[in-house]
Amino acid sequence: MPWIHLDDIAGLYIKAIDDASWSGTYNGTAPEPVTQREFSKEFSEKPTAASPDPTEAPARERGDVAHQSRHRLASRRPAGNHHSHVIHDSAWLLTTDFRCYRESRSNDNTWRFVLIVVTGATGALNGATVDHLLDRVPVEEVAVAVRDVNKARRFADRRVEVRYGDYADAASLPTAFHGADQVLLVSSNDPGADAVALHRTAIDAAVTAGVGRILYTSHQGAAPRSPFRPAVVHAATEQLLAESGVAWTSLRNGFYAHSLAWLAGPWRETDVITVPADGPVSWTARDDAAEAAAIILATHGGYDGPVTLTADAAPTFADLARIASDLIGRSIGLAVVDPDRWVADQIADGQPEPIARFALGMYQAAEQGFFAGTDPLLRDLLGREPQSAREVLAHRPAAR
Ligand SMILES: NC(=O)c1ccc[n+]([C@@H]2O[C@H](COP(=O)([O-])OP(=O)(O)OC[C@H]3O[C@@H](n4cnc5c(N)ncnc54)[C@H](OP(=O)(O)O)[C@@H]3O)[C@@H](O)[C@H]2O)c1
Repeated sequence: MPWIHLDDIAGLYIKAIDDASWSGTYNGTAPEPVTQREFSKEFSEKPTAASPDPTEAPARERGDVAHQSRHRLASRRPAGNHHSHVIHDSAWLLTTDFRCYRESRSNDNTWRFVLIVVTGATGALNGATVDHLLDRVPVEEVAVAVRDVNKARRFADRRVEVRYGDYADAASLPTAFHGADQVLLVSSNDPGADAVALHRTAIDAAVTAGVGRILYTSHQGAAPRSPFRPAVVHAATEQLLAESGVAWTSLRNGFYAHSLAWLAGPWRETDVITVPADGPVSWTARDDAAEAAAIILATHGGYDGPVTLTADAAPTFADLARIASDLIGRSIGLAVVDPDRWVADQIADGQPEPIARFALGMYQAAEQGFFAGTDPLLRDLLGREPQSAREVLAHRPAAR
């Protein structure tokens, strides 16, 4: 962006008011546009020890940091015959974009972008991530980019900046990601979409916007040869992130524990958990994953590459049957049935075949060990025990 000093913009306004010969459109821009990364780097190299809190620092002092960055006003009269005064300020450092800056949390007297843009905030995971983030950073440092701004009213009510952004609408993303140091990309939840293409669009836009770090909601067991379809999408997306040239963090969340309400079937009524394959799964509470994401975002770059966020244990369905028996006070059995029979039974029960086959891939990935690992990182980040599958089974009634 062609950053401009606030004094220069003020001077432009005064000139426009005073000089009756001015007519038409004038651009208030610096002569040389710079990327946000270049600007942030130069900005951060300027010592600011005299002004530890930018909200208290005199405007001129703050503005001078940018002023020293060689970017001065260049007013140009565009071609054409205009009859009204229109002034376009391409970059107001201390007004519209001041929200992007804060003193570094590392107390190293550097300045930098700190705006965190969260996509998918109208969804359960990233909505909760924003809630947890607002417990940790000032509201001015958070913006949400959503497909339907009306669904994000609860954030607007809390003074969070709400932006429109849809991966399927590439033109929306430059504005959605503007000024961000970190962008948290939700993984697409649309089973009919080309999710990798959508993620590529979002990653490209974040790179072009000059963000400092891209974070992505991935899944434990992301692998190109997993029978669980989303795992293949996550692996391909992580590859795109690795090739993006921008710092990235992939949040490999454990399987959502509340999914047991349908993946373990109606065991409370039938006294049996019926599955087409058995294997260990690190069932993880979605809200724990959301809180961990917020903690990671608030570190501003503390975690690189894939990080695995799981509960402490990875019980098999046989283990879950024992836990369920203990919880309910009567014996709950486990039946591992032929996969084709299981799919047929699901369809007979009213489940669409694509959904039944999608779920089958999950059980088969579990059987092959894709969800078997556990990692202490989630516990360390939360500073407490993550919720266990036992707690989730105890508190959630079985549902289809
Ligand atoms: N770890 C697991 O076990 C597990 C389980 C299920 C899903 N997931 C993955 O984790 C993600 C988040 O989970 P969740 O529970 O929060 O899902 P969710 O409640 O369905 O939310 C998904 C969010 O993604 C947004 N979104 C979808 N397509 C988009 C696009 N093209 N551009 C921008 N935003 C888009 C949705 O926007 P709208 O509100 O406009 O629809 C919504 O805000 C899911 O999308 C899925 O990929 C993980």
